[in-house]
Amino acid sequence: MKILVTGGAGFIGTNFIYRLLERYEAYDVVCLDLLTYAGNLKNLEQALENPRFRFIRGDIADRQLIEPLFEAERFDAVVNFAAESHVDRSISNPGVFLMTNVIGTQVLMDASRKTGVKRFHQVSTDEVYGDLPLDQPDLLFTEKTPIHASSPYSASKASADLIALAYFRTYGFPITVSRCSNNYGPYQFPEKLIPLMISRALCDKKLPVYGNGSNVRDWLYVGDHCAAVDLIVHRGVPGEVYNIGGNTEKTNLEVVKTVLAQLGKPESLIEFVRDRAGHDLRYAIDASKIKAELGWEPETAFDEGMARTVAWYCQNSAWLDEILTGSYREYYAAMYGED
Ligand SMILES: NC(=O)c1ccc[n+]([C@@H]2O[C@H](COP(=O)([O-])OP(=O)(O)OC[C@H]3O[C@@H](n4cnc5c(N)ncnc54)[C@H](O)[C@@H]3O)[C@@H](O)[C@H]2O)c1
Repeated sequence: MKILVTGGAGFIGTNFIYRLLERYEAYDVVCLDLLTYAGNLKNLEQALENPRFRFIRGDIADRQLIEPLFEAERFDAVVNFAAESHVDRSISNPGVFLMTNVIGTQVLMDASRKTGVKRFHQVSTDEVYGDLPLDQPDLLFTEKTPIHASSPYSASKASADLIALAYFRTYGFPITVSRCSNNYGPYQFPEKLIPLMISRALCDKKLPVYGNGSNVRDWLYVGDHCAAVDLIVHRGVPGEVYNIGGNTEKTNLEVVKTVLAQLGKPESLIEFVRDRAGHDLRYAIDASKIKAELGWEPETAFDEGMARTVAWYCQNSAWLDEILTGSYREYYAAMYGED
């Protein structure tokens, strides 16, 4: 089996590539990634030592690159993690989100259809469902909840989901879609809540929390997300959408306090800042379908996953520093020459 993982130099894609290389000794794994600010080739340093792994730098929306690549490589399966993924950035610059997240997905699917790819998995997000009220804790997103995206980011992800589902209905192209809640764990870029708070708390800097910190997210350890995607790619039913969630709803303030407690830092570092425009109140996932049909459940309890995550960032302070100073980009130049 030859499997293409797009966006594999980012947070979840990196974790997924290591899982594939460890578990499937007969697989050839190719990573295609543009190495935007969020992609870090250093994440894949150990994978690059493995003869079953190859890295290709490129844009999923670049048809001139993608079609000949697919013709030459004849992938069996494609898992599309590549995306612009930060809501705040989508508010200030939506265009690149549409280009990568929507057109990029279409270009990948067109090339996949032409070259007989047997499974295309689209990695999506619970954010496509919009948000839930804070005062009705029994309400959860199911796969049947209508799409009601709030931000340019979630609207672009929702568009890609709809196009993937349309390719199944129209052409019988074997796609699956997964919609996952908020992930945390090793290799997450320090603009996202948990690594941002860890990196600032480590330097005793103020921790900016939007509004009053009461927005609720459902948190899932990244390894559990990767296990779910792995199952769907191998055993999911074409044309189906699967919700993936951690059953772990926390307010942003609770998450930040957990980080501070684990690092032994004072809560006085917390600083409330002006809320994000259109900030979704609450996300909560009903993941009973993937449990019933594929037998997946989250395995990592929040406290355990957070302890592992905080420890990873402490042990990998050089990784963090290289991102914070921008020098992580020099690794690519050293490996492949200047752009
Ligand atoms: N992080 C989460 O909590 C979460 C939750 C649910 C779903 N998701 C989805 O999972 C996927 C991965 O998320 P992440 O947090 O790892 O994101 P990330 O931002 O860490 O990584 C994205 C990767 O995609 C690459 N990329 C961006 N544009 C590209 C392009 N045009 N061509 C090729 N590569 C490109 C980047 O270089 C980067 O390596 C995304 O599709 C995201 O929507 C993320």
